[in-house]
Amino acid sequence: MADYDETTYGERIADVYDSLPEVPTDTDEAVALLAELAGSGRVLELGIGTGRLALPLQARGIKVEGIDSSAAMVEKLRTKPGGRAIPVTMGNFADLKVDGRFSLIFVAFNTFFALLTQEDQLRCFASVAAHLEPQGGFVIEAFVPDLTRFDRGQRLQAMEVEMERVRIDLARHDPIGQQIVAQHVVITETGTRFNPVRLRYCWPSELDLMARLAGLRLENRWGGWLRQLFGAGSGKHISLYRPAS
Ligand SMILES: C[S@@+](CC[C@H](N)C(=O)[O-])C[C@H]1O[C@@H](n2cnc3c(N)ncnc32)[C@H](O)[C@@H]1O
Repeated sequence: MADYDETTYGERIADVYDSLPEVPTDTDEAVALLAELAGSGRVLELGIGTGRLALPLQARGIKVEGIDSSAAMVEKLRTKPGGRAIPVTMGNFADLKVDGRFSLIFVAFNTFFALLTQEDQLRCFASVAAHLEPQGGFVIEAFVPDLTRFDRGQRLQAMEVEMERVRIDLARHDPIGQQIVAQHVVITETGTRFNPVRLRYCWPSELDLMARLAGLRLENRWGGWLRQLFGAGSGKHISLYRPAS
């Protein structure tokens, strides 16, 4: 995966992203909470993708913008109703090259973990802090790492088994770099398709520490977009950070 960079995931998956079975189905709940947190201010989504969250936010009258590194993902967004009206900055969200401040910045569906080093993740937090209004909020939706998924550092999973098509997910885990390197492999009679994904996961406590270093503090952590309680059994968290002072 030496050639993998911040554009790879989106460029390779854009044509099928919207129909992937793993894309979250709690979009309405996410949009409701994000809209409430945004109030009447500007909103920025890191890794806006095909607009799964940004488009319904815009439809509620919210001034939403995005950042993404993949032209193919943003091109999909542009084909949808309202998709041309959302300003998108092309680039890496490790550094937010956007003007002004926002009442809400968010990064959903584990996308923060697409930043592959602690250094990039720290830079992202610092950059978010520099673009938040004094009462603004930064929301991260991310999985809670579950290392029992891996057997001797690897995992193989039959995701789809159909008559003319199978999908196999393969992953290797590096516990030192906190990195997962994966391929979603789709095999049909006409060929094989590879969709690579790389992640650097964090425990919630590391996110909180990075936030503190950036001058943010954790205000709330929920187990889901409906503000479910967060606990040891939660598979994911919705974390809300605000400027510390
Ligand atoms: C899993 S998709 C999420 C899309 C959308 N937020 C959603 O929830 O459906 C991740 C998106 O982040 C983008 N992305 C990944 N790494 C990035 C980076 N370092 N800088 C900017 N965008 C990035 C990808 O191109 C892709 O569009």
